[in-house]
Amino acid sequence: MPPALRLGVNIDHVATVRNARGGHRPDPIRAARIAAEAGADGITAHLREDRRHIVDADLPRLMAAVALPLNLELAATPEMVAIACRLRPHAACLVPERRDEVTTEGGLDAAGAGLALRDAVARLGDAGVRVSLFIDAEPRQLAAARTLGAPVVELHTGRYCDTVPGPEREAELARLRTAAADADRLGLECHAGHGLAYDTVAAVAAIPTMRELNIGHFLIGEAIFVGLGNAIGRMRALMTAARSNPSADPAGHGTAAQ
Ligand code: PXP
Repeated sequence: MPPALRLGVNIDHVATVRNARGGHRPDPIRAARIAAEAGADGITAHLREDRRHIVDADLPRLMAAVALPLNLELAATPEMVAIACRLRPHAACLVPERRDEVTTEGGLDAAGAGLALRDAVARLGDAGVRVSLFIDAEPRQLAAARTLGAPVVELHTGRYCDTVPGPEREAELARLRTAAADADRLGLECHAGHGLAYDTVAAVAAIPTMRELNIGHFLIGEAIFVGLGNAIGRMRALMTAARSNPSADPAGHGTAAQ
């Protein structure tokens, strides 16, 4: 039996809906409490430079209200790193960020990283924050993460999730599997996320060296129809089933979202 697989629930899009109108509702901290009750192992929140969803004031509230570990996603800028070093969440996931992108498109270029990324990893590590790098499933990015001294990598699953079942999806899945095995060999803890849904989660959850999945947009969307607790509960159940019977869904066809 592979080690346990944690589910981090990303609450950004509750804040997106709140910010669309201003004011306080819906409250992402309430979503985090529901996630905890529904079986999440952690909460993920992305403080973007443009504050388009989570805002600074959400973070201390979140850390005070919910006992689950907080995984703070952030760009490797001096401003963001200073905020993370001050707040000292359980973990920080360094992501690429462009103001004009709709969401995080592609992984960090750890291999081509300059001093800013190296410095961010070191400063966060010195502050006692577990650092992960959000990278594409490529050998050179894994090797670079190791060289930079990050203990964790999060593999970008966007390309895999954008495919339909068939050869292209198989190829993307194979890349994720290989990268997860390579991460293990390099001594890096392996996480994954971006775009995961009911029909794509099982094959990724079945990868034995995978330790954490971070999932947001699909869960918040599904919550409109079935409630957040139910959506998380079903995702958790799919992950657990895939973990205990990895060969049941080797092609990643999964359970279609209803
Ligand atoms: N992991 C990282 C590093 C991300 O940037 C995101 C998107 O914010 C996610 C996971 C979650 O992706 P999604 O919201 O598509 O599930």
